[in-house]
Amino acid sequence: RSQLKQGEFVGSLDCGTTSTRFIVFDRYANIMAQHQIEFPQYYPQPGWHEHDAREIKETCDACIDEACKTLEGTGYAKESIKVIGITNQRETTVLWSRKTGTPLCPAIVWDDSRTKNVVVHYQRRLENKGIEIEPGVWKKGEEGVDALRTLAGLPLSPYFSAIKLRWMLDHNKGVREAYDNDDLLFGTVESWLAYNLLGGPATSIHITEASNASRTLLLDLHTLTWSQPLLNFFSFKPSILPRIVSSSEVYGEIAYGPLKGVPIGGLVGDQQGALVGNKCLTEGEAKCTYGTGAFLLFCTGEEIVKSAHGLLSTVAYKPGPNAKPVYALEGSIAVAGSAVKWLRDSMKLISSADEVNKLAAQVTTTGGVYFVTAFSGLLAPYWDPGAAGMLIGLSSYTNPCHIARATIEANAFQTRAIVESMKLDSQTDMKHLKVDGGMTNGDTCMEILADIGGFSVVRPQMRESTALGSALLAGSAINLFGWDISRPDTLAEVNTAGGTTFEPKLDESERERTWVRWQSAVDRSRGWEE
Ligand code: G3P
Repeated sequence: RSQLKQGEFVGSLDCGTTSTRFIVFDRYANIMAQHQIEFPQYYPQPGWHEHDAREIKETCDACIDEACKTLEGTGYAKESIKVIGITNQRETTVLWSRKTGTPLCPAIVWDDSRTKNVVVHYQRRLENKGIEIEPGVWKKGEEGVDALRTLAGLPLSPYFSAIKLRWMLDHNKGVREAYDNDDLLFGTVESWLAYNLLGGPATSIHITEASNASRTLLLDLHTLTWSQPLLNFFSFKPSILPRIVSSSEVYGEIAYGPLKGVPIGGLVGDQQGALVGNKCLTEGEAKCTYGTGAFLLFCTGEEIVKSAHGLLSTVAYKPGPNAKPVYALEGSIAVAGSAVKWLRDSMKLISSADEVNKLAAQVTTTGGVYFVTAFSGLLAPYWDPGAAGMLIGLSSYTNPCHIARATIEANAFQTRAIVESMKLDSQTDMKHLKVDGGMTNGDTCMEILADIGGFSVVRPQMRESTALGSALLAGSAINLFGWDISRPDTLAEVNTAGGTTFEPKLDESERERTWVRWQSAVDRSRGWEE
């Protein structure tokens, strides 16, 4: 041990929907050590998707342990890690006990669609009674829907945490009792992890970061405070909510394990993390991350752009406790990599995720097959929880290669739908799209995206952009390497390794023909669910 070198590194805990990883970066974003663990997914009923919050925490602890060992194996002391950041799957809702720090029920995952009826209930409420946006001022019907979007930047959808929280309170006796006894703490995944890493019930640091808070349907997007009108609308008392913090500041020190005493300096939702990691820090820059789902974020700077075309307005990040927030427009696709996982695990069509590219590359078209991957309804820009997953255009000619290609094309068409909305909302054309995430490893997938999208697709060489984003925010909090997230020039040396650009090659008329067919397939998938 005494011979271990001292370096200066930053750690990032990236807790996604299906796996957790801990990555140690140097000042140029070279990866010095990493460890990744998948954790169990629970699907107890159709449309339900749960996590065990304890298992999420355990995989985080194990990833930190293993990555520290790997780092030491390369000759560097773990004390070289000066600060860590956390980035996480967003919206997933965790409830735990203030007294004991233990979860009170399974966490409901962001893409769970059990709460469709809760949404219908609140839609009716907006139509009939409305929302009181300030004492005595009620907005009803379309005005009410619009008030919700103006306050929170979001539509009513099973996607957001408030709807899940309402369901948990209404269906779980233990949760209800804890609520009544003031023992209930609500948080998204970064809130749960920070609470645990910073000492659990002993210190009781109950915080949430602004970009994550902006996904709850409870945050006032303008003031970055909990919105009283929204709390009243959903009937929640404020004592269950965490304190809202910025994305880059020291929240406290890790209380146990190999990194005991190391500060946590960054918290950020994973998609916003990828925006930062791709250095899309100024107005007009966009990235799309293809993980379990796919999420296209377009930075709008200090301005909140309200979408008229089905996108979300969201906090991108808040650079420090006293800094002004940066906002983004977002298009969220619920199913991307998870469709490939479905081909592998449920349909047994492929034996590894990468095989989807190999199969798809064996054919030049899908042979007329379209796959609307609406496994839990459709998110942006459709916002239809009632849309059903649908394969259409099947014939005796169809083989697994066509299905594989149609799965990849589904991603590309949904990306294009979001880009079309972004063009309309922002009045700017998008010439290229920066991409990252597991699905972008396949060249065929990227070629199809460029062809169907009609724009250049820019894929960096180092694609751990999500983790890098939280590392940049954490480093900035302690001014490590001179990084300052508010000054992009201080990050000029980070991740400059280049990458690959995929240009569209498909004939324009063919692009438009298939686009029209896709839209017609989406129309057919809608309104199917009972
Ligand atoms: O909004 C959900 C999103 O944060 C999940 O991200 O990377 O786990 O698909 P990912």
